[in-house]
Amino acid sequence: MVGAFVGIQFVPAKRTNPPANPKLTAPPRVTETLRRACYDCHSNATRWPWYSRVAPFSWFLVHDVSLGRKEVNFSEWDNYYPVTRRHKLEWMRRALRQEEMPPWPYWLIHPAARLTEADRAELDAGSNPSWPAGRPEISGVKGTNVENAVRATFILVLLLPLLRVARAEAQLDPWEFEVYPYSTVSRGIIELETDNAVVANGHSHGENGTAAGTFRSQGMWYNGNELTYGVSDRIEAAGYLDMAQPSGRGFWWAGDKFRLRGRLFDQEALPVDLGWYLEVEYHKMPQFDDASWELELKPIIEKDFGPISLVANPVFEKVLSGAGRNQGFEFGYRSGVYYRWMRYLSPGVEFYGGIGLIDDNDPISEQQHYIFPVIWGELPHGIEYNVGSGFGLTPGSDHVIIKFNLEIEKFLGAIFGPSSERSWFF
Ligand code: HEC
Repeated sequence: MVGAFVGIQFVPAKRTNPPANPKLTAPPRVTETLRRACYDCHSNATRWPWYSRVAPFSWFLVHDVSLGRKEVNFSEWDNYYPVTRRHKLEWMRRALRQEEMPPWPYWLIHPAARLTEADRAELDAGSNPSWPAGRPEISGVKGTNVENAVRATFILVLLLPLLRVARAEAQLDPWEFEVYPYSTVSRGIIELETDNAVVANGHSHGENGTAAGTFRSQGMWYNGNELTYGVSDRIEAAGYLDMAQPSGRGFWWAGDKFRLRGRLFDQEALPVDLGWYLEVEYHKMPQFDDASWELELKPIIEKDFGPISLVANPVFEKVLSGAGRNQGFEFGYRSGVYYRWMRYLSPGVEFYGGIGLIDDNDPISEQQHYIFPVIWGELPHGIEYNVGSGFGLTPGSDHVIIKFNLEIEKFLGAIFGPSSERSWFF
């Protein structure tokens, strides 16, 4: 036994401290806590304790440190792309909330590293994605964030009427009044979401407003349930169960959707952040929608100006089977302007609409266009919400729709390793 212990001392473990790049721009108290509780495994400034020279502890330690540095290395902070930093901060907030970090064997040996509730709260608050103060300036755009946002909104609104348009069934997906941002669910995270829309003031006959089948839209409650998984740092996969309740008749299973969504390039690598969205939609019941299979493609375009985000999802939709399968692509849009005010409560305005077929638009009066003032934010326990009421802008739209979306995220475990810092797709 003793011989074996002496013997393994000759199996080397490589303790290294590569040069540190100490430019972490965080509030001093946050930096101090990180140094105390995290730096031994998540920086190049590891303080190697005496037992790090003693096998087998040396092997575990060196292994932990190299794993830890690979996941998050505060000494390399400056070299990460902004989006990578943002992701690492998301993981950090999760690791803190779930009290995974620092690992308990570590704080047992280093009591000083044990974090109090207050430390955790401070790190959590301090690890806001806007924290890396070194966020590069947006080049080529002058003026304040507010001015730029107003300017961009103005241009968007001016562009809308250019989409002159006509066909009697300009549709939009009433199960999901949601605008997709550039960022995807983090790797290994599972997200459950429920999207609800109740038509408070709609049409009394089918095939009008959001009703694409024989059921009338008045009183309809659309309920979409979505399960999303972060396949990698840049790609997420989701399945949906769509239910609907025609007024007073109980919930029916209306259909399903499957989709992949991803982001391209790193954040701020381009003048706008770009993502993609590919969906197959199945309508089980013609009473809700008589196109049984549909394909939907959505580029995702986002531009952030400080606390303001502009997000646009142009929608290209093609009926694969059922009514309308011989027609070409329809065009629609989802977009939003959001202001990050407080974590728990922020305002936004969303726009949804459809113009019908690209090559044969519906008359304006038959198109659907909605404006939704919303509030959104993050509640305790990782619950996010987005609620608002939508107002139809054309006679073809429903008049008032109330929406409430809720989502909750949990870490499930990653299948794939971290994406390469410098790649743009995986
Ligand atoms: C004893 C070494 C050690 C200390 C101290 C430590 N970590 Fe870790 N950390 C690790 C290791 C090892 C991994 C990789 C774990 C894995 O892959 O399962 C890791 C992974 C992580 C991850 C990414 C994994 C995830 O859950 O997404 C984050 C974020 C993290 N640590 C944050 C922190 C923070 C914040 C602190 C300080 C409060 C800290 N760690 C302290 C060893 C440590």
